[in-house]
Amino acid sequence: MIALLRGHEATKEKHDYFKNIYLPVNALERAFRWYYLNRTSYSGIMNVVNCYWGYGDKFSMQPKNWPTQLRKCSAKLQGASLLCGDFATVIEQAPDGAFLFIDPPYYNADQAKFYTFAFTKADHHRLAELMQQHSKRLRFLLTYDDSPEIRGLYGWAEIILVKQWNYTINRTDDQKKERQRPQSEKGTRYMGREVFILNYDPSCVGQVPVAHPQVGSMVANVGHLRAAQLAFAE
Ligand SMILES: C[S@@+](CC[C@H](N)C(=O)[O-])C[C@H]1O[C@@H](n2cnc3c(N)ncnc32)[C@H](O)[C@@H]1O
Repeated sequence: MIALLRGHEATKEKHDYFKNIYLPVNALERAFRWYYLNRTSYSGIMNVVNCYWGYGDKFSMQPKNWPTQLRKCSAKLQGASLLCGDFATVIEQAPDGAFLFIDPPYYNADQAKFYTFAFTKADHHRLAELMQQHSKRLRFLLTYDDSPEIRGLYGWAEIILVKQWNYTINRTDDQKKERQRPQSEKGTRYMGREVFILNYDPSCVGQVPVAHPQVGSMVANVGHLRAAQLAFAE
């Protein structure tokens, strides 16, 4: 993969070529094409309808750093099994006592934009039911966008933590909407909110995550749940 990527700069012309013309003939070439497009597309969106050129030297990982990143990733994946399938299979097959980090599509996201197959409301309900069903034998950390529906679905969980952060949307001029947006609105700051849902008390596991001053504070949502505070290192 690294050898295939060698010499390829991030350019709009190449993005267009790999997206529309290039025909991979084997799995490695498919992976190479996927990686190039993922690294150079806006927000890494791979849904073909919304896979636009979106690379910028200042905010994207530069091609000269791709090999290092791939090697790091490869080292971490040694011994790992990668499965591609519905979440239910993975959860049901996880051995007793396993820890699962689950990062499903957001509940209120514009699914069609990101995914070829949307994660439906029924899927969100199915996931919540499954997690409750397996809650006694598995530990999990689940991340979601904050909404009353998600809090309702996981009202039975041990802890729901709320994290807020600021983010800026900078889109490249290749995005249709961006072209229409006035200069004054570019790079607008937004407030994001995400919930971390746990079915266990992390302070009882021995290793409590350490506070990080640069990360927005995480405040436990007390509600009818047990009060808790946790700082989180990213
Ligand atoms: C928010 S993304 C996860 C991003 C990931 N944590 C990362 O850092 O790259 C949600 C993922 O759920 C996957 N997904 C969608 N439907 C699924 C299903 N039925 N079962 C399992 N995963 C699914 C999507 O393909 C997507 O990769």
